Amino acid sequence: MKNFWQKLKKLSRQGSGRAIYVLAPMAGVADSAFRQIAKQFGADVVYSEMVSATALAYNSKKTLALMKFNKKERPYVIQLFGSKPEHFAKAAKIIENKIKPDGIDINFGCPVKKVARQGAGAVLMNNFKLAREIIEATINNTKLPVSIKIRSCVGSTKALDFLKNMVDLDIKAVMIHGRSMAQGQSGEVDWKIIKQARPFVKGILLANGGVKNAEDASELLRKTGADGIGIGQGALGKPWIFSQLVRHGKPKAKRATYNSQLISKKMIFQTALKHAKLAEKLKGQSGIIEMRKHLCWYVSGLPDASVLRGKFIKAESLNDIKKILR
Ligand SMILES: Cc1cc2nc3c(=O)[nH]c(=O)nc-3n(C[C@H](O)[C@H](O)[C@H](O)COP(=O)(O)O)c2cc1C
Repeated sequence: MKNFWQKLKKLSRQGSGRAIYVLAPMAGVADSAFRQIAKQFGADVVYSEMVSATALAYNSKKTLALMKFNKKERPYVIQLFGSKPEHFAKAAKIIENKIKPDGIDINFGCPVKKVARQGAGAVLMNNFKLAREIIEATINNTKLPVSIKIRSCVGSTKALDFLKNMVDLDIKAVMIHGRSMAQGQSGEVDWKIIKQARPFVKGILLANGGVKNAEDASELLRKTGADGIGIGQGALGKPWIFSQLVRHGKPKAKRATYNSQLISKKMIFQTALKHAKLAEKLKGQSGIIEMRKHLCWYVSGLPDASVLRGKFIKAESLNDIKKILR
């Protein structure tokens, strides 16, 4: 099966001369509707919300539904979390045969207590043996390219120690979130660790953390030497960040035109409505309820944001949303 990561790297080196921009995995946020919107704005790769390898191994219908995608999302990577190698082995087979995405990612970064209690997510960075077994079980049971997402540090374990121990494994891409497990999703990003990791990553290196605009992205790429960037919170309510990054990354781009100030209210509302329509189409009424938080993000920074937010959190239907946006 093709390693789409390598193809993207070739493209970025030859024709486009720019980095790879990825929608980072985000539970409760990066569903198919949001991924499609991110893709329309130029995201090169989109990751799923994290999916339980254990639930998949037990054939959970809900989990299978969570991974569904539209071919417009390709290249699409499904992220697994868990702590049992045998569950990853089963899950990898199911994903390859039933869902057919473009890649599988393994979560070594989630700091959430519920996940840590299962011995999954970031705490696995403290257990090299088990982490290796999980990566091997996944690689050995799929032809899809396997990637991992790690943190700069978990307790006393640094990303570098972790990667040194995995360097012989056929990992096609590594996304490093430059914050420690203790930091969660905010605070300063340790770009030095990402830079130092380069020699231990044979495949694609993606830097992640704190990128809110094209300037942040250029700076992180320059400082780390990474092949690309994972965007998380910077895309919430601002999926057009990908088109800004893609254009900014081109050598002859005129910087002034990428100023986020130039995003008009009309475009914000049009995008929000398009997103809401997709959410309703894919998930019905629950799509509308889940859409409320996205709508609040879309209007953040607008002068009438608080009035709009007050209305969005009560929206029950697409019609309600249309009325508010009108
Ligand atoms: C709401 C939310 C959900 C997230 N869910 C996941 C997840 O399922 N898997 C994962 O590896 N990281 C997850 N993350 C972490 C992001 O992928 C990313 O590493 C983090 O937000 C830092 O990047 P940023 O500063 O660009 O947001 C999540 C972050 C947020 C804000």
